[in-house]
Amino acid sequence: ARTDTAEATASAPVNIAVIKYWGKRSEALMLPTNSSLSLTLDQDQLQSKTSVRVIADSESEDARLWLNGKEEKITGRVRNLVATMRKLRADLEAKDSSLPSLANKALHMASINNFPTAAGLASSASGLACLAVAIDAALQLNLPRPQVSALARLGSGSACRSLFGGFVAWDMGSKPDGSDSVARQVASETHWPEMCALILVASATQKEMPSTAGMQTTVETSPLLQHRISAVVPERMQSIEKAIQARDFDSFAEITMRDSNQFHAVCLDTFPPIFYLNHVSHRVISLITKYNEVKSKENGRKYTVAYTFDAGPNAVLYLLKDDVAEVLRLVNAFFPHNVAAGAASDEYYGMAKQF
Ligand code: PMV
Repeated sequence: ARTDTAEATASAPVNIAVIKYWGKRSEALMLPTNSSLSLTLDQDQLQSKTSVRVIADSESEDARLWLNGKEEKITGRVRNLVATMRKLRADLEAKDSSLPSLANKALHMASINNFPTAAGLASSASGLACLAVAIDAALQLNLPRPQVSALARLGSGSACRSLFGGFVAWDMGSKPDGSDSVARQVASETHWPEMCALILVASATQKEMPSTAGMQTTVETSPLLQHRISAVVPERMQSIEKAIQARDFDSFAEITMRDSNQFHAVCLDTFPPIFYLNHVSHRVISLITKYNEVKSKENGRKYTVAYTFDAGPNAVLYLLKDDVAEVLRLVNAFFPHNVAAGAASDEYYGMAKQF
C-alpha cells in the first residue's frame, strides 16, 4: 500500500502587465532586462489551482506534471524549479534528522485553470506561481512569500508578480546573483476599488511564438529594445507608480497603452519579426481610440478605457467600474462574432469585475 506523507493544494490569480517584461539578461537566473508592473486580477475570475503530492514510498525522484488533466512533458524551467526547491528541503533534512524525508521522493503535480488555457491568457504566470506555493507547502519548507516569488520566477518570469495582490512591480535589480530582482506590492487590491479589467478573446488558439523564444530573439536583434530598456521603461515605472498612488486614470491609461504599443513595436523590430496582434486586435485599438475621443467631449476625461496586449491577440481593457456596462455594449455591438465564439457575453461581464 502507498502512504502519502505530504500533499498540498494552492491557487494563484492571473496578472496582466501594464509595463511589459520582455527580455532576459540571465536565462539561468531568470533576470529581466527591464522592470515591469502588473495588476493581479480577481482570484475568483481567472485562477490556476495546483496540487502537489510527495510519494513517500517511491524509489525514484521522478517528477510528473498534469495540466488540465493531461500529462505534460516537464520543461527545463519546471525541472529547475523542482530541483531548487528539493535542494532547499535536502538542506533542512541534513540539519535535522528528525524531519520526514521528502527531498528525494517522487513528486506528482496536477494543475488546472478555470479559464481557457488555449486562449493564452497569462496562464503561465498563475500556473507557476501556485506551483511554487504548492511545492513549498508539500515539501514543508514554509518559505517567506518574497522567497516563493523568487522561486516562481524560475518557472516563468511574470509568475513572480502573481504572489501579490493589487498593483505589483517587479524591479529588475542590478546584482549579478539576482537577489534584488524581486516583486513588490505597489498598492493593495483595496487601493483603487473602481479599477476593472475586461478580457476580450480575439482568438482562442495558442500563440505561435512562445514568450521564451520570442524574447530571446528580441534581445539578440532589436535595437529598439535597447532604447526601451535604457531610455523609456525607467521613467515609465516611476510615472505609473505615481499615477496609481494618485488614482490618476488618465495618466495610468496613457502609459498603459503606450507601453503595450511599444512592446509590440519591439516585437516587430525583432528579426525575423514577431506578430502577436491580429486584425481583431487592431480593430480593438481603433475602436478604443475613437471611443476615448468621443467620450472625452462628454466627460472631460482624456481616456475612459486603456487597452493592453500580451504575447497574443487578446485584449485586456482597464477601465473604471461606472464605464463597464457601456463599454461591454460597445464591444458586443462591434464584435458580435468574437463574443459568440469566445464565450457567452455574460461570461465577459463576469470577467469585468473589480479586483
Ligand atoms: O513570464 P513569461 O515568459 O510568460 O513572459 C510574459 C511576457 C508578457 O506577458 C508579454 C509581459 C509581462 O510582463 O507579463
